[in-house]
Amino acid sequence: MTRAVSLRGLSKTYARAATAVDRFSLDIAPGEFLVLLGPSGCGKSTVLRMIAGLEDITEGELLLDGEYANDVPPRERGMAMVFQSFALYPNLTNRHNIGFPLKVQYPHEDHSARIEATARMLGIDDTLDSYPNQLSGGERQRVAMGRAISRRPSVFLMDEPLSNLDAKLRNHLRAEIAQLTDELGVTTIYVTHDQAEAMSLGDRVAVMRAGVLQQVSTPRETYAVPANVFVAAFIGTPRINLLQAVVHAPLAERMCIDLGRQRLPLPEPLSHDLQLLRIQQGRPVVVGLRPEAARIAPPSHARPGEVPLTGIVEHTEYQGHEALVHLNTGSRRAVVPDLESARPGPGPGSRAPGRLGRIKERAGALAKPRSSAADGPEAGAPDAHTPERATIRAGDLVLRTGPDTRLRTGAQVPLLVDLGQLYVFDHRGRRICPAPTEIPGLYE
Ligand SMILES: Nc1ncnc2c1ncn2[C@@H]1O[C@H](COP(=O)(O)OP(=O)(O)OP(=O)(O)O)[C@@H](O)[C@H]1O
Ligand SMILES: [Mg+2]
Repeated sequence: MTRAVSLRGLSKTYARAATAVDRFSLDIAPGEFLVLLGPSGCGKSTVLRMIAGLEDITEGELLLDGEYANDVPPRERGMAMVFQSFALYPNLTNRHNIGFPLKVQYPHEDHSARIEATARMLGIDDTLDSYPNQLSGGERQRVAMGRAISRRPSVFLMDEPLSNLDAKLRNHLRAEIAQLTDELGVTTIYVTHDQAEAMSLGDRVAVMRAGVLQQVSTPRETYAVPANVFVAAFIGTPRINLLQAVVHAPLAERMCIDLGRQRLPLPEPLSHDLQLLRIQQGRPVVVGLRPEAARIAPPSHARPGEVPLTGIVEHTEYQGHEALVHLNTGSRRAVVPDLESARPGPGPGSRAPGRLGRIKERAGALAKPRSSAADGPEAGAPDAHTPERATIRAGDLVLRTGPDTRLRTGAQVPLLVDLGQLYVFDHRGRRICPAPTEIPGLYE
């Protein structure tokens, strides 16, 4: 059995604390795999715990198969939860750990067949008579999962179940979870702060920031049409390049996007989405370019929709299957608050829905003789100079290139930017190009 889970304006406020979850609404279909994604402290676990009944709902409604369920006791919700910490009973064998919920529910029945079937499904049937301390981390997490599955729940709630495992095992178990939940067809709500995990697992991904739901969409849509600059920056590795810019739309001349030292010309005839930028004339905007949205090539190689820019090579990261080139275009990077850190503390205005925070200014490396840290605009303090890092100059644009690209640091290279892959966000962080499909002002 599987069930629909609906959240209607769900909020959670802890005593003497800021609102942890703010008017969260979402409909999860029976059998759907929904991922709750967001940085630490954004309220993911709180949402999950309210669904499980482990946390009171301050405001709003939880519906299970359309029925009001705020007051249904946890054990009557038919849900099973898997946590980050394995929480196995150390003095019980794996067999008894997996069978524990069954024994509590039906103490006089023989559950061996179901335990063994579950263990086979998880590939741990040869460890049933061992104890948790005789298992590897991955095996222990599979036992924890077995314990959740054996109850045949109608909803699976998983709270960062893989984050204690090393990267290789995490990838392996990630694939297993996808396969398993698919086979079981049980509604699954999976919490993670790892965007790669979210993208590879979810039928849909719900991105949260500071207690507020930002966007719910398929992984593909989340990457391709992020609703705002926060979602754009949270999804994708390497991170999208975000540059401060101003739209220039003189009546008699071509429109262009001013990046500071250089301008991106917008060729006529303008696409519908780019035409809409005209109303931003003179206003600060943020331009988003994913690392695959530009390539190193001379203007003579431009395909339709590509416009030239130049960059100075800062350094190249060899990745095996590709290389990442850090370039300096003299632009100023835009910084999105909250991406990695816990959300800001309580304070008036900090929780207004739809508010994406200020886009702070950071000086571009060309404008500064010595650049700050090399590890990205969002990392560290604005002027975190360290003697080691002072020699590595941070670029403002990271591009993917082939693994065999050889570029000399300091060389000036021609670039072609694909306007079809250009994002523009307004001063509040909302995507304005490609044009949003929502009615303007709807998410004020
Ligand atoms: N019992 C509590 N009392 C007061 N504040 C709490 C309590 N539990 C959580 N919070 C606060 O609510 C906010 C959301 O916490 P939550 O655990 O849901 O975040 P999270 O997204 O799961 O973070 P993480 O990725 O670190 O697990 C945080 O600011 C946290 O400090
Ligand atoms: Mg959590």
